[in-house]
Amino acid sequence: MSKQILRFPAGFLWGASTSAYQVEGGIINDWSEWEEKNADRLVKQAETYWHRWQQEKFPEMFNRDNYFCGSACKSYELFSQDIECLKELNCQAYRLGVEWARVEPEAGKFDMKAIEHYRLILKTLKENNIKVVLTLWHWTNPLWLIKEGGWESKKVRGYFNRYAQFIVDELGDLVDYWVTLNEPLMIIGHGYLDGKFPPNKKFSSALFKVFNNFVAVHKNCYKIIHNKYPGAQVSITMTSGAFTAANKYNPLERLMVKLANYLRNDWYINRVRGYFDYIGVNWYHHDRLVWYPPFRKNLNEKITDRGWEIYPEGIYIVLKNYKKYKKPIYILENGIADANDKLRVDFIKDHLFYIHQAIGEGVDVRGYFYWSLLDNFEWAEGYWPKFGLYAVDRKTFKRTARQSAKVYAEICKNNQVKVD
Ligand code: BGC
Repeated sequence: MSKQILRFPAGFLWGASTSAYQVEGGIINDWSEWEEKNADRLVKQAETYWHRWQQEKFPEMFNRDNYFCGSACKSYELFSQDIECLKELNCQAYRLGVEWARVEPEAGKFDMKAIEHYRLILKTLKENNIKVVLTLWHWTNPLWLIKEGGWESKKVRGYFNRYAQFIVDELGDLVDYWVTLNEPLMIIGHGYLDGKFPPNKKFSSALFKVFNNFVAVHKNCYKIIHNKYPGAQVSITMTSGAFTAANKYNPLERLMVKLANYLRNDWYINRVRGYFDYIGVNWYHHDRLVWYPPFRKNLNEKITDRGWEIYPEGIYIVLKNYKKYKKPIYILENGIADANDKLRVDFIKDHLFYIHQAIGEGVDVRGYFYWSLLDNFEWAEGYWPKFGLYAVDRKTFKRTARQSAKVYAEICKNNQVKVD
């Protein structure tokens, strides 16, 4: 890349993202229950799994406590500190979540104090001129829902309607963009195929029931939100994937790329066609496919702390694929686990380079949200991966800007990025 300044279109929305469970703290839901049952296994996995090469750098992966979300970042209480961070970053928007288990701890009984508290958070964001991107569901569920069959039962549709209607009535006036479901396919993959996430099922045919419920729930929510706010901006976020063939002359690998691309990037979105106003893109992974087992062989020249290959042109591949849907695109998650903050600045700049290129080729990208505002609870990995622009002290919960936060703040302020 040659030295240049890349300007983004006027009004491009710069932001940062979190999810409710990963930052709020003090939540009891199906995930917190799962932690109790799985912490020992996760410690063991740290000894045996791919983490091996990271063991020295992150000794906390051997600590049981690492795998309990517990207080998270205490963002439920310390939300005004998070807003201060957003202001320092010159972010014009914040993607955050509502925790279903918190607002509806018992089926049909809504906690009015919790909803008032969420109103306060959203109002404070608006007072600070920060647009609200609100996620209704980011993988976690109230315990009562699980007793009723969870996402495998059709009952979830009615329950989610009731929850969504409540949120729309109580918070809708403060929301600029809605995300109904975060990355439904991630739960299909890790909950029902490789068994890494709750409910830990492997190659389970229940995935089709869950998938159909995800489709129905999203469509219902879309209608519920639009009934009250016809101009609302509603979507899901996609677990987007960028696939390339190791050998572009190999017809089998090319076919695999097509198939993987369809399943990951087009399957779900095609099923909810007509029910989204924009596309929410979350992107982290590139997959270089080979025709022989294990079918994926990345070159991994540069990797993140999580072992994920850094492959910025992947975001370009993803964006070009979504162009055909002719809808505005917001990148609602893109980020790196990088505890030493050595790679984050280049990671952000290089991704923005390719996003800018896609925009130049007519892809209607309207915003970029870095994942994540804060170091937070990284699901089955717990706390050791550090995605934050701000580090969070696990004892005092003090937020400290990393060097990369300062660079990101300049990008957000100037609506441009300097790449070399
Ligand atoms: C999820 C986030 C998660 C991030 C990094 C995304 O798929 O939406 O909750 O922290 O990946 O693993």
